[in-house]
Amino acid sequence: MTKFYELSRHQRLRQLVQTGALAPESADFLATKPALADEILTAMTENDLGQFVLPYGVGANFLIDGQDYYVPMVTEEPSVVAAASNGAQRVKQGGGFKTIAVEHLILAQIILTAVTDFADLQQRLQKVDQQIFTVAAQAHPSMVKRGGGLRSWQVTPVGADQAKISLWLDPQAAFGANFANTVAESVAEYLQQQMLVADEQVLAAILSNSGAKMYVTVQAEIPWSALATSTLSGAIVAARIAQLNQFSQQDAERACTENKGILNGVFAAALATGNDLRAISAATTAWLIERQQLVLSQWQNLPADRLLRGKLTIPLPIGQVGGAINSLPTAMISQELLQQPTVEQLMSIIASVGLANNLAALRSLVTTGIQAGHMRLQAANLAILAGAQPAEIELLTALLNQEHRLDLAKAQLILQQLRQQKR
Ligand code: MEV
Repeated sequence: MTKFYELSRHQRLRQLVQTGALAPESADFLATKPALADEILTAMTENDLGQFVLPYGVGANFLIDGQDYYVPMVTEEPSVVAAASNGAQRVKQGGGFKTIAVEHLILAQIILTAVTDFADLQQRLQKVDQQIFTVAAQAHPSMVKRGGGLRSWQVTPVGADQAKISLWLDPQAAFGANFANTVAESVAEYLQQQMLVADEQVLAAILSNSGAKMYVTVQAEIPWSALATSTLSGAIVAARIAQLNQFSQQDAERACTENKGILNGVFAAALATGNDLRAISAATTAWLIERQQLVLSQWQNLPADRLLRGKLTIPLPIGQVGGAINSLPTAMISQELLQQPTVEQLMSIIASVGLANNLAALRSLVTTGIQAGHMRLQAANLAILAGAQPAEIELLTALLNQEHRLDLAKAQLILQQLRQQKR
């Protein structure tokens, strides 16, 4: 049977329609008119000049919490989707990705200055506990109607004379940035007018991107048999992957590269589903700093069970609705491809892609090295760079793939030879 990645784009779309993963209209949209309509473009940015287009692909072989997925991914790096599918296929042989923990609450902060008596402030706040919940509910009644809203709050001293009120909010399926900011500003205004005394002042009220309670842990157990190469046993590959991850846990220069490999998958899936990559990036940085941790994933070789276990915990400040998601038609198609997941399922899916990319990268690094696979996928890019016309790209890519080492000069030379042969 022809593999999914060997099909043409139209065959792939047809297969997704036939299996019910995609509505015919969505497949037609992807094939013919994925550009944003003028009205959307103008509404989404100031000073719009046009569109910046990136490839939209799907990672294959994903089995997550017992459900099969094609995961939409948007990225400019040619090897990322292939690596995700490769990692996912190995994880599938061990039963797929499993969600170990997931939480989806957003934090908002009210920052107070000139707090001279913290204990007194704390007592006064306790007295208006009910009012804080009432003001929060009144600030966003539609969220309360959907089952969301303020879940808890606490006040903490910061430095000599500042304090923060932390509001923990349930944004339901949304990321909840607007919701959190609206509630924080309303509660801040109430406190400023009704409760603060002397010089106490609200300095600012804003959501936090910390992701401390908006994170997911996914795990994968890969049998040694799914890791072997033509020259190395699965046992050796598993041991080497665990060793390389162990190295990252102690070396920031390597850890940041391993994290980048994880974010390759996370960002591609988050972007395809219309989510905010800067929020994920900021949350991840804070997460690692707070835990004094260098690398996001942990890989453990378990000889008694003849398997390799990988675990990724990552803050994912994302939504399944709201933000840009509903304005971007292709983001809506992504949600369709993922069978309209809950926000928690979407978090597990995005994290699984990160872990899949991590596995594929580590396995390549400790076996053949990264360049072999990368260069094969870079060949098409190189063909374009060398000046190949659309009708020449496929043949030139195939010829480049037969070469041992690739560079632009060689690609240009082969293209020249190809054109001469045609004359
Ligand atoms: C390349 O985009 C990502 C890798 O460098 C990740 C890693 O080194 O773990 C291959």
